Amino acid sequence: MLGRLSLENQVAIITGAGGGLGSATARLMAARGAKVVLADYILVAARSVEAELAATGATALAIQFDLGDEASIKRMVAETIDRFGRIDILHNNAADLSPEVGQNDHDILHMDTALWDRVFRVNVRGTMIASREVLPHMLAQGRGAIVTMTSSLALQGHIVQNAYSTSKAALIQLVRNIAAAHGPDGIRANSVAPGLTLTPAVRRVFPEAVRTLVEKETLRDQMGEPDDLAELVAFLASDAARNINGELIVCDGGLTSHVPDIAGYRALGKKAAPDQV
Ligand SMILES: NC(=O)c1ccc[n+]([C@@H]2O[C@H](COP(=O)([O-])OP(=O)(O)OC[C@H]3O[C@@H](n4cnc5c(N)ncnc54)[C@H](O)[C@@H]3O)[C@@H](O)[C@H]2O)c1
Repeated sequence: MLGRLSLENQVAIITGAGGGLGSATARLMAARGAKVVLADYILVAARSVEAELAATGATALAIQFDLGDEASIKRMVAETIDRFGRIDILHNNAADLSPEVGQNDHDILHMDTALWDRVFRVNVRGTMIASREVLPHMLAQGRGAIVTMTSSLALQGHIVQNAYSTSKAALIQLVRNIAAAHGPDGIRANSVAPGLTLTPAVRRVFPEAVRTLVEKETLRDQMGEPDDLAELVAFLASDAARNINGELIVCDGGLTSHVPDIAGYRALGKKAAPDQV
């Protein structure tokens, strides 16, 4: 019995649904009754999730689109309306995570302006346009939930991924502004900040040494997995979260909740407990 967690008969667009977190969320939303639109730049990835969900009896539609292109975003929203006639949920999940961005997104002193513009064009401008394009449909229905993926990197300074983390920080404010403007009309907009999460891409790309650094700072026995994020996103999209609006919820196993030198304290052992400092 899902109660208010149920997404029965709701239409959900999930951008980046061919990827690690987006596909996990699409699976969970479909299992909770949503008709899911799997929108991704890579059609073959979206189609593979579509086939998997169709085999379970779920309603799923793969659509190719580019979050960096306004006309393409508009076309994706129009295709959703043509097929399903409504949009109840938008999960802004896609972001430009391509290797050429990741490998060159460093500190401000070495920041390439074109790279900065590319990251902001996709992550911020694209997410704004997708949200703007679904809003008239949600407002006409008198209800709608937007859940936007940011990152724990948007909450703390770092020496890597400068453009990425700044773009994710901008999304936190975009979400608050959507909630402030349209909450009274039945729209909820919230954001989610994952820490490094064990998607297939993270397992492949992040060296063991970096994962160990993160694991040591995490307040549980392992790093988060895609299902941990899917549970949170599906909850925020559902009526179970009807009293939550304009919020950011961090889902990082406690990574950003504590003092920065906790792993060092642990390494010193119990003798360095705070009562002895
Ligand atoms: N995995 C993590 O550790 C982690 C941590 C913090 C935040 N996030 C955020 O979670 C979201 C999903 O990340 P993921 O780990 O699943 O990555 P992923 O690479 O597995 O999936 C991202 C998906 O977005 C799609 N995409 C990229 N650019 C696009 C564009 N221009 N138009 C349309 N689709 C596009 C890709 O094709 C891919 O399918 C991202 O917003 C990311 O910033 C992930």
